[in-house]
Amino acid sequence: MKFFIDTADVAEIKDLAATGLVDGVTTNPSLIAKSGRPILEVIKEICGVVDGPVSAEVTATDHETMMKEAALLLKLADNIAIKVPLTVDGLKTCKALSDDGIQVNVTLCFSAGQALLAAKAGAAFISPFVGRLDDIGINGMDLIADIADIYANFDFDTEILVASVRGPQHVIDAAKLGADVATLPPAVLRALYNHPLTDKGLDAFLKDWAKTGQSIL
Ligand code: E4P
Repeated sequence: MKFFIDTADVAEIKDLAATGLVDGVTTNPSLIAKSGRPILEVIKEICGVVDGPVSAEVTATDHETMMKEAALLLKLADNIAIKVPLTVDGLKTCKALSDDGIQVNVTLCFSAGQALLAAKAGAAFISPFVGRLDDIGINGMDLIADIADIYANFDFDTEILVASVRGPQHVIDAAKLGADVATLPPAVLRALYNHPLTDKGLDAFLKDWAKTGQSIL
């Protein structure tokens, strides 16, 4: 399973990329706004930090302007994935870009039918938002299961990119369902490392080790 980082905070991305476990980055207009930086500058910088795909989202709502924005974003680096919303114009843009060999991440997916359309439009990634579904009382992970079932019936190349992840349990559940990618807020990746018994066990090991007076080096 690949881990992307869901942020436009370059310091966080650099810190987590150093773990060697980061396979890509996703951004969205809200995350760019939160960074307080110009989109083209911040996306270019992120692309220099990670080798994998960096999703940069168009902000136009019509196909023609989406294509113009995508062309500009694609000039920034070789590892850009264009992110488009799951709308008629977004999928039209997805099809056009995918036909040209460009990776497209289709975002704001909330139903299996939408995921089927994105795959037919050639999306490299479909981003179902599990947390936002949970927020309205619908089990987001059921959507991941449905999409996985549907995609298994065909030879789509589209990868399931679990988005709107709120905690480690979402990551574990998505992994059990065989999702290809999860995009994680930095705090969720850090939380995955933690277990109180790990801390307790290490503490005991170190205390016993100190009593021996030995040193490996
Ligand atoms: C990722 O591509 C999405 O934009 C992101 O995961 C949305 O997460 P949120 O629902 O926490 O805003």
